[in-house]
Amino acid sequence: MVNRLSSRPQLIAVLVFVFIALAPLVVIFTQQPPYLSPPQLLSDPFLQLPTDTSVRVVWFTEFSGTRHSVAYGQGLRQVAIANTTKLTRTREDQKSRVGEQTEDALVYQKPTPRDIWRHEAKVTRLTPGQRVPYRVTSVRNDGQIVKSNPFTLASAPPPHTPLKILLTSDHQLMPMTAVNLQKVAETVGNVDAVFLAGDLVNIPDRASEWFDDNRGGAFFPALQGHADYKLEYNNITTLYTGGELIQHAPLFPATGNHEVMGRFSTDSGLNDQFNDPLPRQVAAEIYQQISSLLNPNHNPNGLKDNSFNTDTYNEIFTLPSNENYYAITFGDIRLISLYITNIWRTPSLKPNAKGRYREREADLNNPTAWGYGQHIFEPIKPGSPQSNWLKAELNSPEFQQAKYKIVMFHHPPHSLGDNIVPPYTDPIQTIERDRKGKITAVRYDYPHQADYIIRDVIPLLETAGVQLVLYGHSHLWNRFVNSQGIHFLESSNVGNTYGAYLGEKQRQVPKGKEYAATGDPNGLEPILPTIAPLRGEDNQPLPYIASKDITVFSILDTSTGIVSSYRFDTTKLDSDVIEFDEFKVAPVRRVR
Ligand SMILES: [Fe+2]
Repeated sequence: MVNRLSSRPQLIAVLVFVFIALAPLVVIFTQQPPYLSPPQLLSDPFLQLPTDTSVRVVWFTEFSGTRHSVAYGQGLRQVAIANTTKLTRTREDQKSRVGEQTEDALVYQKPTPRDIWRHEAKVTRLTPGQRVPYRVTSVRNDGQIVKSNPFTLASAPPPHTPLKILLTSDHQLMPMTAVNLQKVAETVGNVDAVFLAGDLVNIPDRASEWFDDNRGGAFFPALQGHADYKLEYNNITTLYTGGELIQHAPLFPATGNHEVMGRFSTDSGLNDQFNDPLPRQVAAEIYQQISSLLNPNHNPNGLKDNSFNTDTYNEIFTLPSNENYYAITFGDIRLISLYITNIWRTPSLKPNAKGRYREREADLNNPTAWGYGQHIFEPIKPGSPQSNWLKAELNSPEFQQAKYKIVMFHHPPHSLGDNIVPPYTDPIQTIERDRKGKITAVRYDYPHQADYIIRDVIPLLETAGVQLVLYGHSHLWNRFVNSQGIHFLESSNVGNTYGAYLGEKQRQVPKGKEYAATGDPNGLEPILPTIAPLRGEDNQPLPYIASKDITVFSILDTSTGIVSSYRFDTTKLDSDVIEFDEFKVAPVRRVR
């Protein structure tokens, strides 16, 4: 045969014939499976990146489809065509709770890519201050059309527009998140924007945590009124749907530690990958030494795959910057969102702890398995790109002239919670060796005086007249005011709590070190809620809410400058939402 086809034209002719003959089979085996279900969107649309005259509408499908568009304006007569991209890292795995998988590994035995398409249309020529109806349409590959319900959109509000902003964080599919967002919608109605100080889901590459976790509490359903989350108390089950919020209002997130995936793998579970980031510099050093082993195919994502990434978060949201820090003007507010977060590691000092203070004994001679303590993902120290950007932004006319100057980031500067310890600084590594040079311990310290937030960031914010700092991470509600009058609010008792450490209750800190076991390590006293504080067992008012039964949300009303915090007791079904605290965000004295 080879001999008979030795002439080149003959060989090419045969190859072309074989290709044409096999083409239908290739199409059959590679096309999307026939649809058995009615057409549906994977999420409702939500709003992003408003400008004076435009806003982006974003939604997701599990089909590539065609003719994805937004109809908007009076009579829905105007049309904006969407740009479609495919999410590159979304997967499901053994621990997903999606579809038929109701316990570990029933369907997925290892991380399995999940095909999800994202559609984004820029809706333009909007009149500032004017809200208009819209709906989105996608056409499935088999020609079936699917439309969303109608919602409303608006461009960025002009100055002096009274706004209600939801201040929230740490949703993470926690038990009370859906009821929290439902109570927001029931209490406030449509909010104008959502400021979310990080930790949107638990594992960012696990698609179902964003869209369709089968326990009913995924990120988008909870913020879009489609949750289906059951809370049980005293044998009474109550179903919560969340609130229809972000179909009508832009969402402005900050990058939390749960937006960051660690080292990429096709085998190890997604939880393990999430918990396995390497500092970029360490990865670069290891990588240089063994790059052919780690990256035999010369993947351009090599360094990222062997350290950490925020790809899924970046692919889902359209933010004002390609960095994970940005600023935006929204009505009378100038909001700065910073990338201030580090990997969370256990405080345990046990030999098997890959912890914040030590490496695991079994890993001592294997630096690629070390955790490198609670390392910081994006520097904020003086001279870093983020610090330089922040200084320029604080000096900009947009910031200086704004009525409300708000800064949001994930890691707490002041808190009674657990996660404020140890200080926010690069871990100082100490390697102990025996007389033969063998490593006997690897430890990490975090000097209090080197806390980048307290030492470097807060003084900049004081100088610039920032009025409110919003953050999360410890899952409780507490607030503080410093001597310059900056308000600090941690409104993260949304879905659950990790406790408050005051009085008898002590954080787990190493003995003989300076880490604070109780109170705010950075020296402020918590403010007692001004309206209706909870009371402790001794009937004294508590300066915090740290509860697994009582959920909390906060609303900034720009017409008054008042931040109101509300609580709802999920064990008392017929009880009302109670406003328990108010404070006013007002211009503060600038420090020179
Ligand atoms: Fe966090």
